[in-house]
Amino acid sequence: MTEHFKMDAPATEHRLDDMAQGLVGAPLDRPDGPSKVTGTATYANEWQIEGMVHGVMVRSPGNSGKVSLANRDAVAAMPGVLAVIQDDRLLRNPAQGTADAAPIQGARHADYTGQLIALVVAENFEQARHAAQSLTVVLENGETVTVDPDTAAVEPQEGQAVDQGDLGGAMRDAAHSVDVVYSTPSHSSSPMEPHASIATWDGDDLTLRGSYQMLKYNRNELADALGIHPDRVRIISPFVGGGFGSKLGLSPEAVAAAIAAQELGRPVSVALTRPQVYEATMRRSETRQRVRLSADGDGRLTGLGHDARVSNLPGETFAEPVLQASHFLYAGSNRQMSLDLVRLHRMCAGSVRAPGEAVGVTVLENAMDELAHEIGIDPVALRLRNIPETDPESGKDFSSSRFREALESGAEAFGWADRPGLKERREGEWLIGYGMASAARVNMLMESQARVTLLPDGTARVETDMTDIGTGTYAILGQIAGDMLGLPRDAVTVVLGDTGLPPSAGSGGSWGAASSGTSVYVACEAIRRQLAERLDVAEPDLMLKDGRATYANQTQALSDILNGDEIAKLGHVTPGDTSKAVRQATFGAYFAEVAVHAATGETRVRRMHGSFAAGRILNAKTARSQCLGGMTFGIGIALTEEMAFDPRDGHVTNHNLAEYHIPVNADVPQLTVELLEERDDWANPLQAKGIGELGICGAAAAITNAIFNATGVRVRDYPATLDKVI
Ligand code: MOS
Repeated sequence: MTEHFKMDAPATEHRLDDMAQGLVGAPLDRPDGPSKVTGTATYANEWQIEGMVHGVMVRSPGNSGKVSLANRDAVAAMPGVLAVIQDDRLLRNPAQGTADAAPIQGARHADYTGQLIALVVAENFEQARHAAQSLTVVLENGETVTVDPDTAAVEPQEGQAVDQGDLGGAMRDAAHSVDVVYSTPSHSSSPMEPHASIATWDGDDLTLRGSYQMLKYNRNELADALGIHPDRVRIISPFVGGGFGSKLGLSPEAVAAAIAAQELGRPVSVALTRPQVYEATMRRSETRQRVRLSADGDGRLTGLGHDARVSNLPGETFAEPVLQASHFLYAGSNRQMSLDLVRLHRMCAGSVRAPGEAVGVTVLENAMDELAHEIGIDPVALRLRNIPETDPESGKDFSSSRFREALESGAEAFGWADRPGLKERREGEWLIGYGMASAARVNMLMESQARVTLLPDGTARVETDMTDIGTGTYAILGQIAGDMLGLPRDAVTVVLGDTGLPPSAGSGGSWGAASSGTSVYVACEAIRRQLAERLDVAEPDLMLKDGRATYANQTQALSDILNGDEIAKLGHVTPGDTSKAVRQATFGAYFAEVAVHAATGETRVRRMHGSFAAGRILNAKTARSQCLGGMTFGIGIALTEEMAFDPRDGHVTNHNLAEYHIPVNADVPQLTVELLEERDDWANPLQAKGIGELGICGAAAAITNAIFNATGVRVRDYPATLDKVI
């Protein structure tokens, strides 16, 4: 009953184009929306379980040394306190590290300030918090460690380097060139729902109610941390209040809750505080990026160089993939790129909101703006002139690209033709500028499974451990199954977020909808074949619509055909090696109008437009919402977002939503989004590519380029706060 599909050749059937229900692509509401906005959707920390007690985690006050809890016994004796737990299994983040990098992982040694090193459990939350705050953490035999990327040890990432042609020569001979250095600060994912877990043991079986993005991996991580078999672990995560990368891997509260619950024989609830989310989950690495561009007299790129430096803790393998889109976004035969990872003792760096392109495309697009200014041509024209025919490094074809159309159509929709000259437009005290930037993001397909059951009453159920992190999975999977089985959207129930269900790709890297959607599609195809077999007709001659099957001049309700039976199929998609044949990516373009106050340097984004192409759009409403969110993050990256680290010990000084400034409603004007029609046969049978993160990748550059247009000031050190603009 498992239908396996391997994506190793371009799709030839385009059946979603003419499904009778017409659900896929429609801007349908989320079925989970009402429960979320009325407070009836139960999030991880909201479960009330009989006998449940509460844990609060404790942070390290310093960045090096052996951890000891000086007044442990006194705290253990405080009212209501049940346990003070310091355990080597209390991993900081097993997803991002290596299991054998023992010192950096354990709770007995501190390696960054804010590292979570103990858990205090009490009968109620207030008692646990009071006791946790009373615990005196002492670090012994600490070393002086570096927290400064400028002095940290460098590890070149050889696998990321490109050296093609002669960039130095191209720069020397260029009619026009730029050689610029930009820096971007660390960003926090800042999900609205803090990380939280409730652990319950039943004998040797652990159930964790948590808030995670990729459950099959999280289950393995948790089992690995506890030293038990993954079969013993069930994670339930039906609603996730945002992740943005910080919930891709397990966070410390999950392991802590599981250890405490086992030790106490009671359910234990642990939620990170907002400061703990900022200090001890994941940061995007700060970056320093040098971009070199050389062009001929017509503005055709002859060379492109991109050298980046990022950081992480010792022993961590993740290096912000800054160069990811620089490999393919623009032509230019002389290419040189490098990525350096420096080792320092700030909190762990990991995936945050479009890792790589969010800051890499942004800086590349600033450099392109600098080049356009240098040459004296329109920034859109410069991009159009340098769209590569094929992947400029490998020579492979693009699986699909509407980059050109996004630039042209976006410029038209925005009214780019009215762009003022440099420092030309002023309205009272406000200087007005226009800016633009390209968008680009890699596209991926991941292994994923889903079970679809056509029930005796003619309705259907979709089941997978896929998550909906606010992105619209509940809506999209129902639309795909509805179209494939000829059912109205509300005749399909979608059940998500439970490792007891078939394992999916999870939500990450913009692959979630396409990967889990394909598994649903594959299962539905198998159901259609079985129905056809039952009716003794060829599957192509079977038309399913409104819960009825039409074939051989007759129409019958599905419930009659099923006659009390159900048909269940498991769809299983695995990626093939299509990446050997083609380059898969998504493209777009942003346009922004800003007003900069002539006296204060304050920047207000007045309007912003994005045109994007990401293959078939599965739900025009949820896709648009993803782009709105992405562009909003772009406003944050451009103007306000910055994690501040104390230079003395590397601790995060702005560890809350009041001081880490993400854009609020007043900062976000009316944004407009255009989704271009596109199909990608190489992506998957749905012909859909990922759109979740595309709207972030480069968005900030449209704003900072607009600031230059308004003021003549290039801010090369993000964010462009008023002190840098004035
Ligand atoms: Mo994303 S940063 O891969 O959740």
